[in-house]
Amino acid sequence: MSETTEQSAFKADVLSGKTAIVTGASRGIGAAIAQKLCEVGANVVLCSRSADAVGQIADTLHGKGYTVLPMAADISEKADVETLIKKTISQFSHIDILVNNAGITRDMLLMRLKDEDWDAVLQTNLTGTMYCTRAVLRPMIRQRSGRIINISSVVGLAGNAGQANYAAAKAGIIGLTKATAKEVGARGITVNAIAPGFITTDMTAQIPEQSQQQLLELIPLREFGHPEDVAAAVCFLASDAARYITGQTLQVDGGMVM
Ligand code: NAI
Repeated sequence: MSETTEQSAFKADVLSGKTAIVTGASRGIGAAIAQKLCEVGANVVLCSRSADAVGQIADTLHGKGYTVLPMAADISEKADVETLIKKTISQFSHIDILVNNAGITRDMLLMRLKDEDWDAVLQTNLTGTMYCTRAVLRPMIRQRSGRIINISSVVGLAGNAGQANYAAAKAGIIGLTKATAKEVGARGITVNAIAPGFITTDMTAQIPEQSQQQLLELIPLREFGHPEDVAAAVCFLASDAARYITGQTLQVDGGMVM
């Protein structure tokens, strides 16, 4: 989390009293989203597979005076997701915002892609997003309000060689977003996706330097994005300013895909 997160474009109380769940909150984009939501007043449930990793982020945010609850949960496991939702309700009594951010890659050209790597990416990135979304609908419908924000990718829009599994899952998230938006719009719930481009995190750190330079040429703004750029878009979609936006995919990609 960089210093830029401290310079919020949003009023400090824009999500005051709201409860948010952020999956994959232990590092990278998820950690930046969690911090941003805290900065604007939300209570944040930090979810990740590793209790240690999520505990460290929770300690940092707690030290800044924010209300956070760390929860070790694997979103690809239905039982874990149900426990995550139950514990959130019992701690905060409502869930206003769900950010489906957790995701993995298992890159390989399709010809050589192993079934297990297809299954793992679809199970975490798409099915896990569905599990979390389905589980929050009942409480959100009951309270007649809610914001669901799904982190897709420009790869889900444009495709990418070596990422058939990831592209399929991220495109699937966009379809899931639209279908859910149509199902629950009348209940006061909005569902939107964000499609980040190249954001500097552990996930993209593995990309060789030469490929990174080639990618830079494809980005009109000529720089990679920061986790905080995605966090700002999440904050907007979670706020009242976005009350009339649903079923959309907001690209945060420096113009990489248009
Ligand atoms: P990252 O690899 O740095 O962090 C991923 C987070 O998800 C970690 O906290 C990890 O523990 C968690 N996670 C993974 N599997 C999980 C599971 N089964 N249950 C619970 N937590 C799990 O990734 P990064 O870069 O921060 O990406 C976050 C999201 O943004 C992902 O969905 C990714 O696909 C998406 N994205 C990232 C881009 C980038 O350039 N970094 C571009 C487009 C999308």
